[in-house]
Amino acid sequence: MDKFRIKGGKALRGTVEISGAKNSALPAMAAALLTAEKVTLHNVPKVRDLITMAKLLAFMDAKVSVTEVPASDYLIEAPTLNHAEAPYELVKTMRASILTLGPLMARLGMARVSLPGGCAIGARPVDLHLKALEQMGVEISTSHGYIEARASKRRLKGAHIVFEKITVTGTENILMAAALAEGETVLENSAREPEVTDLVALLRKMGAKIEGEGTSTLRIRGVKKLHGTEHTVIPDRIETGTFLVAGAITGGDLTIKNCAPEHLGAVIAKMQQAGVPIETVNKTTLRVRGAQKLVGSDMTTEEYPGFATDMQAQYMALATQAEGTSVITETIFENRYLHASEMIRMGANISVDGRRAVVRGPAQLSGTTVQASDLRASAGLVLAGLVASGETFIDRVYHIDRGYEGIVEKLQGVGAHIERVHALAS
Ligand code: UD1
Repeated sequence: MDKFRIKGGKALRGTVEISGAKNSALPAMAAALLTAEKVTLHNVPKVRDLITMAKLLAFMDAKVSVTEVPASDYLIEAPTLNHAEAPYELVKTMRASILTLGPLMARLGMARVSLPGGCAIGARPVDLHLKALEQMGVEISTSHGYIEARASKRRLKGAHIVFEKITVTGTENILMAAALAEGETVLENSAREPEVTDLVALLRKMGAKIEGEGTSTLRIRGVKKLHGTEHTVIPDRIETGTFLVAGAITGGDLTIKNCAPEHLGAVIAKMQQAGVPIETVNKTTLRVRGAQKLVGSDMTTEEYPGFATDMQAQYMALATQAEGTSVITETIFENRYLHASEMIRMGANISVDGRRAVVRGPAQLSGTTVQASDLRASAGLVLAGLVASGETFIDRVYHIDRGYEGIVEKLQGVGAHIERVHALAS
């Protein structure tokens, strides 16, 4: 397994270009199953989860091709789908495989999707996806570890669905199912994340009738058929936030290009509160510099437009360098503090009690070998490594490869001493 070796203490300076959002590209690829025509997606990041999604679509007999120049484009064409199945081997590496369930039900009226199983950041069930589909006329049973879904009529029927809890992929799955359903579907308490809004934009280009994106009520009038289109995926707001912290934590000066500052309101406000100078240069560019004085500031993760749970580990790394106490409260996922114990091993003063972590700083971190436990935890550890004295080795970086395009090269480009140590050479 590959590792990262980081020699900390270098202020990062220069320009970084942000890639497309993994969490937008995933539902966009699944949405291509809704039509027999070609869907072309631009600005798709080169990350492992999207290769897994491509394999999944190919398993179902969709044609998926990737162009590398000028950027990464995915061309997906699904004239016929023969295997309406998401097998365990693919689902176990990527929970977002569940995003194929809604489109398969809409297009074929049947699907077999492996249950995602355990996950390092808590139980993460899919019950809300399934309940919503049942309201749309789908019979669901589980056997041999698989969800078996079958529509009682050829087309799903529109329904009034109130999500008990806000779920991002749940909202996306049902949006896709409802796009081809008979009649109107109303989704209440839906997710307002920019990635949901981006999916609505794509579905609309495919001919779907949807209103209410960016609010918690979505209205979908089902149509009989959707068609092919082209779409450019929005910039990755979590990658952007990660580089904001990288610039701030190392006392550097970074210009972050090709990003969408309007999607980072809560993260920018919180970092500014901690004393980090962040400037919105224009609609697609941010500049971040090291704080004169970094101060502790409490933070609670929330659904969008609140502070993203996917930025919690990175914020914790920043908090270890801030003067005073930062109380972090994680409200979205249980058990999402696995990075805290690794940061403690590096010298951070953090105590965790259930959903709350109290970080006291500043702490002089010192490099050691740490283990990445999930995608965003890995990013938090990379950031801690960038300020630690000596060398930090991060194990299990396959987690970070799932969602960050070229993170080593991008960090090297702004002066970080980081390298990938390949398994055979380690
Ligand atoms: C998505 C993102 C992930 C992010 C998360 C929260 C993708 C591919 N992934 O994950 O990066 O961290 O949103 O912003 O977009 N829940 C249930 N039952 C369900 C579904 C969810 O109880 O059927 C719970 C979850 O356990 C969690 C909460 O709802 O506590 C939110 O989860 P959800 O928004 O569904 O996360 P994902 O869509 O899996």
